[in-house]
Amino acid sequence: MPSRLDGPLKVTGRAKYGADHNLPGMAHGYIVVSTIAHGEIRSMDVTAARSAPGVVDVYSPFDPVDLRTPNTMFGETWVPLQDKEVTYYGQPIGLVLAETYEQARDAAMTVEVTYHGRPALTSLRDGISSAEDAPPGFDGSPLTMEILAPGVSSIEDALRASPVMVEATYSTATQNHAAMEPHSAVAAWDSDGLTVYSGNQGSNLQAMELALALELDPSSVHAVNPFVGGAFGGKGRTSVAAFLAAAAARVLGRPVKVALSREQVFTATATRAATIQKVALGAAADGSLTAIRHDAWSAVPMDRSFVEPASHSTREYYTAQNLAISQKMVPLNIPPTTFMRAPGEAPGSFALESAMDELAVALNMDPIELRLRNHSPAPPGNDLLWSSKHLDECYRIGANRFGWANRAPRGRIDGDWQVGLGMAGAMFPAIRFPASIEITLRDDETAVVSTSGSDPGTGLLTVLSQVGAESLDISQDQVTPRLGDSAFPAGGMSGGSSATASAGSAIMIAAAQVIDELVALASAPGAPFDGLDVSYADGHVLAAGRTMTFGELLREVHRSSVSAIGSSGPGEERTKHSFSSFGVQFCEVRVHSWTREIRVSRMLGVFDAGRIINAQAARSQLMGGMIWGVSAALHEGLEIDANGRFANGDLASYLLPVNADIPDVDVHFVEYPDTLHNSVGAKGIGEIGAVGMAAAVANAVHNATGIRVRHIPIMIEDLL
Ligand code: MOS
Repeated sequence: MPSRLDGPLKVTGRAKYGADHNLPGMAHGYIVVSTIAHGEIRSMDVTAARSAPGVVDVYSPFDPVDLRTPNTMFGETWVPLQDKEVTYYGQPIGLVLAETYEQARDAAMTVEVTYHGRPALTSLRDGISSAEDAPPGFDGSPLTMEILAPGVSSIEDALRASPVMVEATYSTATQNHAAMEPHSAVAAWDSDGLTVYSGNQGSNLQAMELALALELDPSSVHAVNPFVGGAFGGKGRTSVAAFLAAAAARVLGRPVKVALSREQVFTATATRAATIQKVALGAAADGSLTAIRHDAWSAVPMDRSFVEPASHSTREYYTAQNLAISQKMVPLNIPPTTFMRAPGEAPGSFALESAMDELAVALNMDPIELRLRNHSPAPPGNDLLWSSKHLDECYRIGANRFGWANRAPRGRIDGDWQVGLGMAGAMFPAIRFPASIEITLRDDETAVVSTSGSDPGTGLLTVLSQVGAESLDISQDQVTPRLGDSAFPAGGMSGGSSATASAGSAIMIAAAQVIDELVALASAPGAPFDGLDVSYADGHVLAAGRTMTFGELLREVHRSSVSAIGSSGPGEERTKHSFSSFGVQFCEVRVHSWTREIRVSRMLGVFDAGRIINAQAARSQLMGGMIWGVSAALHEGLEIDANGRFANGDLASYLLPVNADIPDVDVHFVEYPDTLHNSVGAKGIGEIGAVGMAAAVANAVHNATGIRVRHIPIMIEDLL
């Protein structure tokens, strides 16, 4: 078996992504986007576009497609072309449909738009005076909270009373997901309803959003996305391309494909918001934290769609008697914001774990020693112990593997290079969502495990087959996993690092149920084991000294298959424990003495993420996250012009690391299955790889150069 079942299809180009579908009679759509950041569209002259070669139709706010605003678990999702208000540069304001993509694109260039422009606010720093309180987080928990020890009147008092205190302001840049497959969709209608091929993080959720937007019964929307082409939060919601393709295909009575251009992906999807964060840490002389304050400001678009909750996870990192976190949002004329791998945790850990490094320097203490001093058995203010936490072991193993003992307080010199080591802690909550799985045992000795959930590149398809085989006690090559189709049982969302825990739990329940069904068939009147006490093991039913494979039994009782659907979701475990994955990131950087070029020369992540189902896919997942952390630390950042345009909104100028930027990455797991969290024992690995890495890089830069850079990305000019 390949360790990634979808690997051969992907590397040979046989995997069919949304935009790879070509249907007879299909029209091609090209989106027109705004060229101002704030104002009202006064007119759109589409005369030239309408008469251009091959053009089928043109839609705009003056001639809109029919869409409602869907309201789902994510809240309201914005749908395009419904009003003339422009709130960001690059906002979709029109759709040109033609016989070919090139004809649609050429015609779209001729659309003349006039605006009544208004002043735009695009800078987080400039907007901070108009900050608003952020609403509760996605899970309903407050983003602003305070815990004070008895007799302490304020967090400021607690900080002032601390023998050692550090306080600093950090900032993180706007980032775009830049998924490999630009957001795209192919939509087709027939007598059964709508079929949409579009990469998404949960096909049943996409079908639901489209049904709401198009006022259809959910059963008449079929969303198909076996391959996603990159997501990580950026394809959690239904894309503008999918809404427009579906609505236009309905009007035109022919299939429609809409694909964003690479530049449009930067504005017509959603980004990770920029943040500004103030952290203050108070400690006793022995390093015990006495007070933690973390205040965060997140940019948000004018619809306030998603706040980057940067201070939120700080409440759970360390034991401290006094703790205050706050979260504000700053509405700007910027594109929508959304979940992006470790939303909140990634930028938040940059600030907190940089501040911890600053505190270690102030205390003249080893940064690992400081963290071990503040190990928390439970989140502060919460009596629920962590279900499993082996972070101290991660520190110990990591320090050994990385050679931390050789770290000098002021780095070392190697020829023209200043070399430094840095580390940071990492956390990501272990969560799971409701998920349903169908398992079918077939008379040909195979089993099908299916769910609507999606595999955005994380390896869920392979996990379905592995956990399916294990739960059914058969070999993996007997199992056919299927996902990414809303016709399958609702698998929920591949997000929040939850898919293995969610789907895996449901598989175990479905497997137990389908085995019960099989045993009932075996012992039914007239069946081979009529009236006997039948058991199941190793793919066989057995009783009274006789065994049959499940396929033999099904053939014997003239059944082609037997099926069961199992469902699982977060339950009362939430009232008994707190749940999180933990980790530690190590990094070695080399800073050139003359050019100030920064190279990462070694990286190590050690993670406590519960049971690891697929060692290779898990290692790849963590490597990807760690590389994304380096990317945030040294490369990525959208520059927003005063007029709201992204100055570097394309892959020529939005920097991403390439192989030459990334050395060998060492990933290690301490494997303690967490069956208090779910019966599979997995805690989640999708996002924690990105957490803490930027701080580890910045801390290593400080060790190498003595320069503390409190913003990311870190540039050459920061080290002059
Ligand atoms: Mo991810 S940011 O949980 O889709």
